[in-house]
Amino acid sequence: MIRKCLFPAAGYGTRFLPATKVLPKEMLPICTKPLIQYGVEEAMDASIYAIAIVTGRGKYTLENHFDISYELEHQIKGTIKEKRLADIRRIIDRCEFTYVRQREMKGLGHAVLTGESLIGAEPFAVVLADDLCFGDGSGVLSQMKAIFNRRRQSIVAVMDVPPSEISSYGIVLGEEIGDNLVRVNKMIEKPVAGSTDSTLAVIGRYILTEDIFAILKRVKPGKGGEIQLTDALNAQAEGGGVLAYRFKGTRYDCGSLRGFVEATNAVYKMLSHASDDRLSV
Ligand code: G1P
Repeated sequence: MIRKCLFPAAGYGTRFLPATKVLPKEMLPICTKPLIQYGVEEAMDASIYAIAIVTGRGKYTLENHFDISYELEHQIKGTIKEKRLADIRRIIDRCEFTYVRQREMKGLGHAVLTGESLIGAEPFAVVLADDLCFGDGSGVLSQMKAIFNRRRQSIVAVMDVPPSEISSYGIVLGEEIGDNLVRVNKMIEKPVAGSTDSTLAVIGRYILTEDIFAILKRVKPGKGGEIQLTDALNAQAEGGGVLAYRFKGTRYDCGSLRGFVEATNAVYKMLSHASDDRLSV
């Protein structure tokens, strides 16, 4: 049973400076919602309601976003604008949020380990909010949770990327076993282009078994001198414990300007199809 979802959200978002000087990158809006809200909605779509966020200094707007704003709600109560708070209100009513601060930025693996106190000894999901995913039918986490319920192994969501881009991702080597699944033999964090034939890249959706924490405690700093989640997953994979899943849906890399703009356009299109009244001038 996957009950909790961890959101590493302590990064600086330097690619979006100066916008991210005071505003956490997870709060940058894609049309009307901040990036992280899409991730939380994806967790809810997978019936995961315990949301654990690893934050850092200056990230208090995240906590405020997932809390009631009495003054605002009082002001717009009974007006047509009230329904614009409906989605966030649903999240606040249904989910439980917990937070822990990551004091030093020592990599994604370190961020996940920092979340141990919020997760405890149970399998859990991880969402990197930079990756905005729209699943076909059900959300990507929901698809992964269904696989976990059958296989009880760590799962990473993957997609093929152009060979020139492998150096931006964790890359998976393994064997296809059907049902869009690959049994992972090896994972390499951001390999140099041309150093492997695999183009199967990990995107920011994971389901991890609880032994990942013990492994992360032993993992030595890897690529960039950081504690890499990929290295811990590689250790799990050596024992045959990791699956890669080619998810059904579309992913936007909102950590890049290009992906961010593409996601904005895609969401704008969705809002126009739904004839959202906020689009009228
Ligand atoms: C992280 C992971 C990488 C993964 C990527 C997905 O890298 O380290 O393995 O492929 O997320 O977005 P980052 O993009 O944080 O540098």
